[in-house]
Amino acid sequence: MENLKVAIGSDHGGFNYKESIIDYLKARNIEFVDVGTYTRESCDYPEIAQKVARLVATGEVDRGILVCGTGIGMSIAANKVRNIRAALCGDTYSARVSRAHNNANILCLGERVIGEHLALDIVDIWLKTGFEGGRHKRRVDMIEMPRA
Ligand code: RB5
Repeated sequence: MENLKVAIGSDHGGFNYKESIIDYLKARNIEFVDVGTYTRESCDYPEIAQKVARLVATGEVDRGILVCGTGIGMSIAANKVRNIRAALCGDTYSARVSRAHNNANILCLGERVIGEHLALDIVDIWLKTGFEGGRHKRRVDMIEMPRA
């Protein structure tokens, strides 16, 4: 986990959790890029989602974390970018399996939906869990196959 590089972003609705997650990353010496937002002023989540998604898709970072009010807007926007597998998680089981089975490369969280301690537990498990590969790799590969 120490060698991971993470991009993190939020809109105004996820700003407080973004700051808490940054504290978590700093405490564990995990390298990160904060793409904003940097204030509590209202802003547009798709711009932030696209910034983090591009950093992940181009390999400039290993993983991304996005927070908005529900996590829904961020996940919809991030998943439009090729090779992004953004998982909106509200529990630790989904967080673990989104990595182990789906090889999720972006975690989305909803600040107005789940408590802060749960959000930080989800981040911890999601960052620590590896992809199992095997039969799951074949399925994940199918996601980016040419579409009709
Ligand atoms: C902002 O009010 C809110 O719409 C946004 O944070 C997010 O929940 C969108 O999905």
